[in-house]
Amino acid sequence: MNLLVTGAAGFIGSAYVRGLLAGGTADITVLDKLTYAGSLTNLPVGHPRLEFVQGDICDAPLVDKLTAGADQIVHFAAESHVDRSIDGAGTFVRTNVLGTQTLLDAALRHGVGPFVHVSTDEVYGSIETGSWPEEHPLAPNSPYSASKASSDLIALAYHRTHGLDVRVTRCSNNYGPHQFPEKVVPLFVTNLLDGERVPLYGDGRNVRDWLHVEDHCHGIDLVRTNGRPGEVYNIGGGTELSNRELTGLLLDACGAGWDRVEHVTDRKGHDLRYSVDWSKARTELGYRPRHDFATGLADTVAWYRDHRDWWEPLKRGVRR
Ligand SMILES: NC(=O)c1ccc[n+]([C@@H]2O[C@H](COP(=O)([O-])OP(=O)(O)OC[C@H]3O[C@@H](n4cnc5c(N)ncnc54)[C@H](O)[C@@H]3O)[C@@H](O)[C@H]2O)c1
Repeated sequence: MNLLVTGAAGFIGSAYVRGLLAGGTADITVLDKLTYAGSLTNLPVGHPRLEFVQGDICDAPLVDKLTAGADQIVHFAAESHVDRSIDGAGTFVRTNVLGTQTLLDAALRHGVGPFVHVSTDEVYGSIETGSWPEEHPLAPNSPYSASKASSDLIALAYHRTHGLDVRVTRCSNNYGPHQFPEKVVPLFVTNLLDGERVPLYGDGRNVRDWLHVEDHCHGIDLVRTNGRPGEVYNIGGGTELSNRELTGLLLDACGAGWDRVEHVTDRKGHDLRYSVDWSKARTELGYRPRHDFATGLADTVAWYRDHRDWWEPLKRGVRR
């Protein structure tokens, strides 16, 4: 079986590929542009079941060629950082919307499926109480989440219109090793390890659900192997924390105090709370997060402590 995985030089896709190479039998082709967020150091390059192709998901001839040789697709490639989408939305629309459509067209031409489209809980907007089920209307607020919502709808339209076997996952905030140090957990941990301050947005009361990256990958693979065509599956972690609470845990884990926190102007349009109802994945697929948050966070902090060689060049903007 040949699996085409896009964006797997990044945080989540690389965890997914490392997991499949360690446990499964599939041959994997990774298509990744190696933007600032992608690094070959995340992948076991040279593994006999792994082929790496550097390229853009918007490059239709390349995508066509790779899709022709694939049986299934798991699509992670995206511009993924909300703050960058506020500074400029062009690459978000291009990669997240047009890139997804380019892949879907190729999958349709070559009859490739399942096509698992990896999305985000941010497409639902913001919710003060309760949790979103999959059928909740989409109301994205940032250019990032709007581009992801657009790609979800295009993907689902290819199922409805053409019968393509598309499956969409929407997960909460991931944490774990190999996450680019611009996202809150690795940014805060690496700043603290360097004796620097950490920037906390606004009053820190924004709430997120935290999901270990390996639990997310497990959920994605359940959707790929046992999910139903045309369905959306929420994948959550079961640990809701305000940014202030998360900051407190990270300070403790790094042996630092609140004097290291710098309160900065809130992100424009900052969603107050995300919360997905993932009972569908639990009842249909037997999904359950396996990582206890306290242990997962401690292991993550330890990984950054032990892997300065991985994140120091990325923070200095050095390409590898
Ligand atoms: N990180 C999270 O907490 C989170 C939460 C919900 C959903 N997601 C989704 O999961 C997916 C993976 O997220 P991540 O955190 O691993 O992202 P990431 O930014 O770490 O990695 C993205 C990867 O995609 C590649 N890429 C970007 N543009 C490309 C293009 N045009 N062609 C080919 N490759 C390209 C990059 O080089 C990089 O390797 C994304 O679709 C994201 O929207 C992430």
